This record gives sequence, structure tokens and C-alpha cells, in this order.
Amino acid sequence: MKILTIVGARPQFIKAATVSRIIRANPAVHEILLHTGQHYDENMSDVFFRELNIPIPDYNLEVGSGSHAEQTGSMLKGIEKVLLKEKPDWTLVYGDTNSTLAGAITSTKLHIPVAHVEAGLRSFNRAMPEEINRIVTDSISDLLFAPTNTAIKNLANEGLAGITHFTGDVMYDSVLYYKEWIELDPEKYKTAGIPEKYLLATIHRAENTDNPENLRNIFRAFSRLGQEIVLPIHPRTRKILRSAVTLPENVHIIDPVGYLQMMKLTMDATKVLTDSGGLQKEAYFLQKQCVTMRTETEWIETLHDDWNIITGSAPELIEKAAGSPHPTAPLQQGFGNGKSAEIILEKLLRF
Ligand code: UD1
Ligand code: UDP
Repeated sequence: MKILTIVGARPQFIKAATVSRIIRANPAVHEILLHTGQHYDENMSDVFFRELNIPIPDYNLEVGSGSHAEQTGSMLKGIEKVLLKEKPDWTLVYGDTNSTLAGAITSTKLHIPVAHVEAGLRSFNRAMPEEINRIVTDSISDLLFAPTNTAIKNLANEGLAGITHFTGDVMYDSVLYYKEWIELDPEKYKTAGIPEKYLLATIHRAENTDNPENLRNIFRAFSRLGQEIVLPIHPRTRKILRSAVTLPENVHIIDPVGYLQMMKLTMDATKVLTDSGGLQKEAYFLQKQCVTMRTETEWIETLHDDWNIITGSAPELIEKAAGSPHPTAPLQQGFGNGKSAEIILEKLLRF
């Protein structure tokens, strides 16, 4: 069986690393890897391939940055050529980026079945580009791999139960697997030159970076918190930051880091403040309280007992959440058993 895996953005490299490792261990499957080139900086792309032993992509479309239409349009053209040449049995797409959308549309129009990993996530906020990407991708895919029961319910509500399978979350698999690597040599993954005690923050969502008021509010909150904050900065945020805000002294901006270093940063942080989808879950899996600077989350399983607190960008809400006691309640199950990738492969082979 031939599978064409399509990735393009940072969180997809991390998800594909885990699934591709399992796929490639099965001699009955031949995986072709296509990188759209949506993310291209060394520290947004190559570092993940190198560190996580992801095979070098067979194709890199090098589409780069642009408006939604420019970026997605270039991907459609490039992916179509590869699909026509490779004629895979399955196209495998991940998450909710423009690379996901382009992969699903191109493949389905060529009558090549599409399987979507991380299907069924919904914020119910159609102003998010990711929400549009998810809804379209799920509605045209042939096989939907749902990471949580909430995702299962969302897909059932959209009439997609017949093609939906619970797999668990591949990012949970990733945390379990790579945590062992870090524990073997923790010093290797430590970030130099940062404070001993810190809050870990990331910001990159369009709703925060494209709205200077939201960004200013977030940094106002950071300043008021007074604690040291380490912020590995997404290039999108770096671009806007200088013109939009005055950086408080307690905020330490660092370049984006690799996944293993990021996981170590999370493990050593007091708490996490973020608008990232992936980092909310990693904080939960690693038992760090998370403050989510968005108005909603797709990962509602993380919200119990204040493990994850939704604040939007209002400074007083961020401050209150960051000051709340660290939860002691046990984590609830709900993201599978750490074998999501095996389940995905088994379904692909069966269908
Ligand atoms: C994309 C995804 C988002 C995901 C995020 C993960 C879409 C619509 N959004 O958002 O769902 O959470 O990736 O990080 O697909 N840039 C660089 N170098 C790079 C990559 C980006 O400088 O290697 C800059 C460019 O100025 C670019 C901007 O970041 O215009 C945004 O990049 P883009 O891939 O369009 O969206 P993300 O915000 O990264
Ligand atoms: N991440 C990373 N280095 C960083 C920031 C984030 O490796 O400097 C990882 C993070 O641990 C998570 C993934 O990138 O696994 C999340 O990606 P991002 O926040 O860019 O996208 P989202 O998950 O919101 O789509």
C-alpha cells in the first residue's frame, strides 16, 4: 500500500514524526512524504526533521508565505502534480492548516481517498482560518481519525459518524515517546541563558497577532504578572511585535526551539500561557497548568479542575488565571492510550 503524507507546518512535523515512524516500520506500506514548504525557516522546519528522525521529504513544494489564497493556490497546483505522478492508495493529512486543506481538496478531486488525522476538532468560531480548514477537510475526507470523544460527537453532529474512528491523539503518543528521550539526557535539552523559575509563553494565532489591541493587552498582562516569562517567538509574532508593543523587562524573547527543547521548557516551567492548540495539550500531558489566551478551545477535555483556563486577551483575566493555585486533581483520560499511530495504520490497512 502506498500512502502520501502531506505536511507543511510545525505541528504537522511533530504529528507526522510519530505516525510515520509506525507506518515505516511496516514493510507492507510505502510512504511518500510531501512538504508543502508552508514553514521553511530552519527553526520552524528542518530542526524537527533532524531531531525527530523524520525522513527527508520526497517532495518539497517550497510554497512559502503569502495570503491564504496565494499560499493555498500554490499548494493545490503542486500537490496535484505529485498525486498524478505517485497515484497513492491514501493521502494522509494532519490538523487544520492551509497545507491540510490543500492536500484534502486536491486528493479528493482526483478520487484518491483522504484520511484526516485530528479530525472533528471545532472551536465553533468561523473567524478562525483553521476552523474553515477543519470543516472543509472533514466534509470531503474518506476516513476521519478523531483524537477525543468531543471530536467524535462533533463529527456525528455533522453526519460524519459513518467514516469516523476514535484513535486517540497522536500528540499524546509523541509526548510519551519523546519524554523518554529527554529523561535519558535532560541537560542536553535545557535552554541556556533563561531564568531558573519562569512561565512559558507562546503567541501566534491570527486573532492575537493581527489585532494590536489584543497583543498589547497580552503584554500588559505579562508585565503585571511580574514573574519571569520565557517566550519562544513565532516568526509571525516577531514581525508585528516591535511595532505593536513595548516589551516588558520580565519577558525573555528567544528564537523558536526544536520540539525536544520545547518539551523540556514546558517540563521545567511553573505554568504555560499560550494560544497554541498543541501546547495546551502538552501542558496538560506534562501536568502544567495552562492559561489559554483565546476565547475558546477545541480541547475541552483539558479544562477540568482548572488545568486549562480560557482567558482571551483581557489582562485582568490572564492575571487572575496565572495567579490561580496549581491544580492537584488527577488528569482525566480521554486522549487515547499512546498508541494512536498504530490504530491509524491499522485502519488505513483495513479500509
Ligand atoms: C500556521 C497555521 C496555524 C498553525 C501554525 C503553527 C494556517 C492558516 N495556519 O499559522 O493553524 O497553528 O501554522 O505554527 O495554515 N513565517 C516565517 N517563517 C516560516 C514560517 C512563517 O517567517 O518558516 C512568517 C511569515 O511572515 C508568514 C507568517 O509567519 O507570513 C505566518 O505563517 P503561516 O504559515 O501563513 O501561518 P502561521 O501563523 O504559521
Ligand atoms: N513548539 C516547538 N517550538 C517552539 C514552539 C512550539 O517545538 O518554539 C511545538 C509545541 O511544543 C507543539 C507545537 O510546536 O508541539 C505546536 O505548534 P504551534 O503552536 O506552532 O501550532 P498549533 O499547535 O497551535 O497549531
